Amino acid sequence: MHFIDTHTHIYDEAFAGEEDLAVARAVEAGISKMILPDIDSQTREAMLALADRHEGTLFPCIGLHPTSVDAGWQNEMLQVENHLGRKIYAIGEIGMDCYWSKEFLQEQEEVLRIQLETASRMNLPAIIHSRESTELIIKILKDCAHLGLRGVFHAFSGSVETFRELSRTGDWYIGIGGVLTYKKASIAETVKQIPLERILLETDSPYLTPVPFRGKRNESSYIPHIAGRLAELCGTSLEEVAHTTTENAQKLFGI
Ligand code: NI
Repeated sequence: MHFIDTHTHIYDEAFAGEEDLAVARAVEAGISKMILPDIDSQTREAMLALADRHEGTLFPCIGLHPTSVDAGWQNEMLQVENHLGRKIYAIGEIGMDCYWSKEFLQEQEEVLRIQLETASRMNLPAIIHSRESTELIIKILKDCAHLGLRGVFHAFSGSVETFRELSRTGDWYIGIGGVLTYKKASIAETVKQIPLERILLETDSPYLTPVPFRGKRNESSYIPHIAGRLAELCGTSLEEVAHTTTENAQKLFGI
């Protein structure tokens, strides 16, 4: 059985010095490929160096994360532009975050719109981060319908109605992670109504650790615990979840 972790920040300082071990543990657990979403200029070089060291296993993306948008956003965007010449697999993670701060909300929107155009121009998928801002993002995606966008709504927590609304704005998948294994997670009801052909597995490591490891640092090798819960909820086999979500990720990211 093979899995793809479509969202891991294995280059985060939480893994300092243990990145290669974490990759090895993931491969051992059947996670043959991992997508690395970018954050900002602080961690970008470390991410790219790690991806180069594990070519064929780690797949890097480029994009400015919404929580990294501040007064210096134009300089950050220049640095994003400077990295678009190398082989990347998505524009991300990009989006909006009203949870951490609303101070630069207008700038977040501008940065998102610029990067959605980049994704369209380069024919790359977008990895969308949406925290307390789903309605805002859907409104922006409606404006961008002409761009023919595709990608993934990472850490999706919306309703099935939200998923349907989203689907009308482009070719979107939803990213499902450790939250699915938590008691009373509303996403557990939602996934039952969304076709498996639209779901991607992700850890968002080092965050959002699935049960039974909740409280510890998250890592890609825990993907089968998320897949197992998804299989249980959807009344299907772990093999089917592995097969379909892997195919979905291969198709979206071209890997
Ligand atoms: Ni992330």
